[in-house]
Amino acid sequence: MAALPDRLVIRRPDDWHVHLRDGAMLRAVAPSTARVFRRAIVMPNLLPPITTAAAAEAYRERILFAVSGSNGFEPLMTAYLTDTIDPGELERGFSEGVFTAAKLYPARATTNAEAGVSDLARIAPVLETMERIGMPLLIHGEVTDPEVDVFDREAVFIERQLEPLLERHQGLKVVFEHITTAEAVAFVEEGPPTLAATITPHHLQINRNAMFRGGFRPDAYCLPVAKRELHRIALRGAATSGQPRFFLGTDSAPHSREAKESACGCAGIFNAPHALESYAQVFEQEGALERLENFASVFGPRFYGLPLNETTIELVRQPLEVPHQLELGGQSDRLLPLVPFQAGEILPWRIGAAPA
Ligand code: NCD
Ligand code: ZN
Repeated sequence: MAALPDRLVIRRPDDWHVHLRDGAMLRAVAPSTARVFRRAIVMPNLLPPITTAAAAEAYRERILFAVSGSNGFEPLMTAYLTDTIDPGELERGFSEGVFTAAKLYPARATTNAEAGVSDLARIAPVLETMERIGMPLLIHGEVTDPEVDVFDREAVFIERQLEPLLERHQGLKVVFEHITTAEAVAFVEEGPPTLAATITPHHLQINRNAMFRGGFRPDAYCLPVAKRELHRIALRGAATSGQPRFFLGTDSAPHSREAKESACGCAGIFNAPHALESYAQVFEQEGALERLENFASVFGPRFYGLPLNETTIELVRQPLEVPHQLELGGQSDRLLPLVPFQAGEILPWRIGAAPA
């Protein structure tokens, strides 16, 4: 990596957690991810969710079609765990290279999580199979107990679910997804080597005040919800620490403007268009630009046991104004208005030459 004051060349990054959706939304958003990232772990929370290898393969084809022209982009598919998913199907899908990992959504924890797992005990055989075959488990780590304060749901999940799960399955590779709390940072730092975590650009950039700045701001609402400033500081420390357990996962989660700006607005922040630029801003603010490459391009593939990308991407120090709204769509689609993360802000780094 060459770190110069106004130019940074890093190994091409991967996104270890993204929502690419389907249909017109897929065609609108997937090119933003494929422009920068060579691989992406694609979330399976479609309607209906991706629970079979055949559905994952068909979805992968639709993604590749939506990004045609972005050569070399490789979607890594995930299976959506339900109470009744067949461990044999997971094992077949994993051994055939269709599934890279499986995703655990506690039932009703977030968008399209209605079909998620109601009780971990019900999927014990599934977890045993995954542990045996080396298939990573990706966890949305929030309890769904309505008695638990929304801002405490991640910390409570660690105690009630995650710690006992790691105890029961000591060989299972687990990614604690999109962590948002100091408790999660400490837990991952002290956890077994089978445990890692992804961190989003938005949880590094905003705290919970962002949702209430001058009025209610649905574009800053996602799950897990942003927490207090002390948690943001802990996340920034973890991401820029150089510890291989923390790596990049954008959790870019687009919803239409109407779906965000409604009486019951959807959770999700659409950061794909400028995610890498946003991370670069954070790493520079923390005086850790030289650690961006490991976080974005090295620690993720190492954890998953996948090869590092051979190509590079260039970041240049040139102001980038994030548009207030993007109009995106596939060739014959009606364009979709989408509000990107950090709309209206000026970011100090932008992507230079197209990825080599
Ligand atoms: C995600 C979505 O919209 O699919 N939303 C979000 O706020 N992150 C679901 C999820 O990852 O929780
Ligand atoms: Zn997500």
